[in-house]
Amino acid sequence: MPTQTLSANGPKIRTKLPGPNAQKILKGDAQYISPSYTRSYPLVAKSGRGSIIEDVDGNEFLDFSSGIAVCSTGHCHPEVVAAIQKQAGELIHMSGTDFYYENMVTLAERLAKTAPMSGPVRVYYGNSGTEAIEAAMKLARYHTKRQGIIAFYGAFHGRTMGALSLTASKAQQKRRFFPVVPGVVHAPFPYVYRRPEGQTEAQFLKECVSFIEDRVFKTIMPPEECAAIFIEPIQGEGGYVPVPKEYMQELRRICDKHGILLVADEVQCGAGRSGKMWAIEHTGVEPDIITMAKGIASGMPLGVTMSRAEIMDWVPGSHASTFGGNPICIEAALATLNVLEREGIANAEAVGNHILRRITPWVQKHPMVGDVRGRGLMLGVEIVKDKATRATAHDERDRIVDLAFERGLLFLGAGENTIRIAPPLVLTQEQADIAMDVLEECIGIVEKENK
Ligand SMILES: Cc1ncc(COP(=O)(O)O)c(C=O)c1O
Repeated sequence: MPTQTLSANGPKIRTKLPGPNAQKILKGDAQYISPSYTRSYPLVAKSGRGSIIEDVDGNEFLDFSSGIAVCSTGHCHPEVVAAIQKQAGELIHMSGTDFYYENMVTLAERLAKTAPMSGPVRVYYGNSGTEAIEAAMKLARYHTKRQGIIAFYGAFHGRTMGALSLTASKAQQKRRFFPVVPGVVHAPFPYVYRRPEGQTEAQFLKECVSFIEDRVFKTIMPPEECAAIFIEPIQGEGGYVPVPKEYMQELRRICDKHGILLVADEVQCGAGRSGKMWAIEHTGVEPDIITMAKGIASGMPLGVTMSRAEIMDWVPGSHASTFGGNPICIEAALATLNVLEREGIANAEAVGNHILRRITPWVQKHPMVGDVRGRGLMLGVEIVKDKATRATAHDERDRIVDLAFERGLLFLGAGENTIRIAPPLVLTQEQADIAMDVLEECIGIVEKENK
């Protein structure tokens, strides 16, 4: 059990994990809390600042998960905290569904300036990622008067019934919940590393495009009945896999040809994480609808569905939410945007590139590192049993994540066998170096165990 202090900015593990206070809470959790959550390891968080999380026993961890890519500005950024406190003292709730708030408009104007689409936009406010997706699904059906939706294998769009019907990440997420919303077809995601043996990248992407045009449209869903294609510009839960630019451009072409709406789900990859405000900007493609949540309000619950203005043509009563656009969440989002635009996005690009430069050689150096990929501070390290077969190393990936936890580093898995690197966007280069040293050490240990 390592009890080390790697540097003033590194983790400080002071007790056996979980510590005595954590153990008490875990006991209560086991008794009272829904067993449906998937906890990877027993972190009981107490407080946070920047990229550091302190647990209930005084252990300090370097956070490379950001509360599932949420705490974009770091934990408890002083500007975000001040904005929340000020708003909480003024007005907590009236409901944007029935009344008006000035800051609903202010945030919409700010987000409109960042929109990765030309022309005017409108926004709908909800409270979570899954609600942003539900709104996008309903809006797409409402506007096009069509029912069909295409989503992708590996996708995660949320767990409410509509979003769940698009999700195709893990069977457990759907087990015993059918029927979900009908009219959804899944297509292969352009996961270049997992292309069939012997295919070039270009051939593989062509085949992925052809699946939609030649298989889906010709056999199951007439294109004129397809309302929307939902895609994550960097697939998150599926394994931190960026969509190649050429593929996104082909999707745009298909959508334009058939009057289908292109929906970019930026719930995880958006809000500056990729080194640009919206990850789809890396592809030069404009979506029709974009969904956001997670990093947009630094941990306060806010979901946003933004579309080209002419698409948001639904009439009063079509869709709404009691809490959506809560004034405190909106103030948190405005403060978050200030931090991201001033420093967070640029830092995500710089520190992300630094990490990518450091970990890219691991593919040559480490027998179990099959692929490293991603953009900004949304990077994935894919762990395989064997480079030639690319056999997925799920348990070994989990073991690496556990070893890192014991050493004071918080990672999460993504997909079957990928480690996600998703720290706050204010991570320093020094913290990145400390963490990558530890991660590489953990990979080395697991490689030795599996020799
Ligand atoms: C891309 C994407 N869309 C939607 C969601 C659902 O968000 P929430 O958990 O806030 O409902 C997630 C959550 O991980 C996500 O990663």
